[in-house]
Amino acid sequence: MSCCITSFLYSILLYFAIIPALTLLAIRLTIRKLRGKVDITNEVDISGKTVIVTGASDGIGKVTAEEFAVRGARVILACRNLQKAERAVADIRMRTTNGEMIIMHLNLSSLSSVRQFASEFIQKYGGGLSILVNNAGLVNPVGMRKLTEDGFEEAFGVNHLGHFLLTNLLLPELVKAGEKNPSDPSRVVIVSSGAHSWGSLSLDDLMYEKTPLEDWKWISKLYCNSKLANNLFNLELAKKFRSDKVNVNCYALCPGFVDTNIGKENMADNPPPFWVTHVLFPLLKLVMVKDAKEGAETTVYCSLSKYLTHHSGEMYRNCEFWDYSKRPKLSEKDATKLWEKSEKLVKLN
Ligand SMILES: NC(=O)c1ccc[n+]([C@@H]2O[C@H](COP(=O)([O-])OP(=O)(O)OC[C@H]3O[C@@H](n4cnc5c(N)ncnc54)[C@H](OP(=O)(O)O)[C@@H]3O)[C@@H](O)[C@H]2O)c1
Ligand SMILES: *[C@@H]1O[C@H](CO)[C@@H](O)[C@H](O)[C@H]1NC(C)=O
Repeated sequence: MSCCITSFLYSILLYFAIIPALTLLAIRLTIRKLRGKVDITNEVDISGKTVIVTGASDGIGKVTAEEFAVRGARVILACRNLQKAERAVADIRMRTTNGEMIIMHLNLSSLSSVRQFASEFIQKYGGGLSILVNNAGLVNPVGMRKLTEDGFEEAFGVNHLGHFLLTNLLLPELVKAGEKNPSDPSRVVIVSSGAHSWGSLSLDDLMYEKTPLEDWKWISKLYCNSKLANNLFNLELAKKFRSDKVNVNCYALCPGFVDTNIGKENMADNPPPFWVTHVLFPLLKLVMVKDAKEGAETTVYCSLSKYLTHHSGEMYRNCEFWDYSKRPKLSEKDATKLWEKSEKLVKLN
């Protein structure tokens, strides 16, 4: 009897643990191998060019800054926490001495900080901005609505409005670099997320003051909404570049599911159940979760790939075009309305 139980347990172990784990590992290794061929931007030389990465102190932004520095650029790391940014630069400098890395203070929770950053940048480094990567972002706790210094709902304020103002203030610099390099348009790269498809913006209540926040359990709707705003911004920005006939392109992207520190504080406050942390997460990590270096690949692709020179206003994922044009949530009408509302909110005009 006991021998039957033992062999039964062995087969359970074999079929439900060992075989699935080996299969996942094989898939993972295959994905890695395929990804290894993706890096077509290695040979793009951006020495002498000025680029900005917001939220470069950690995660995807930090890797992006490193990839730009390796290729010779003058990289402005726009960060809210200067000590953390210094540690990031010291770490990057252990691997490469290429390029120039300059830390500047930018706290996207505050419009006055955005304005100060932009004017200081123009004063010190004006002369053309080739690439602006709007990467910084936060995931707010589920079910909670916090406010920025200016009274905006935090995810919308930081992820969308702060970058909206920043991009607009830096437009003359982007245009300038585009004029200097007719065959090489300047680029605005917006790090969005596939989570935008779970978002919905009520254009009459962008701060969620009236709309009841019936949040989900795992991901904040406010975060998804802010990422939807990122994509609508991308659409309208491309339209504006086309109608102004300036040599600037823009792209939005989803980096994939990336293992960074984003949202980790929230998780510490409100830990998911044991099976999620100890079974689901490790399995996901094995098959689909990228590390920060892999997570930055699509950002680098959108920033540098020559294949995208004649494209603008599109979305990319895993270094590939991601057709989201047929989605009703991304209507051009909403994009225009959001732009107009955003202009008023950040007092641009
Ligand atoms: N990780 C994913 O799976 C995933 C998936 C889809 C999209 N994304 C997007 O990818 C982008 C980068 O995220 P990540 O995963 O690399 O996260 P991360 O490691 O937490 O990095 C986020 C960066 O944004 C900065 N930041 C946050 N709030 C800011 C503020 N108010 N002002 C200025 N900087 C601020 C952070 O600064 P501190 O270092 O000071 O905290 C940090 O440098 C985000 O836009 C995120 O929405 C990530
Ligand atoms: C960013 O600005 C907000 C709003 O003023 C403030 O609460 C927060 O402490 C600032 N963060 C950092 C790291 O300076």
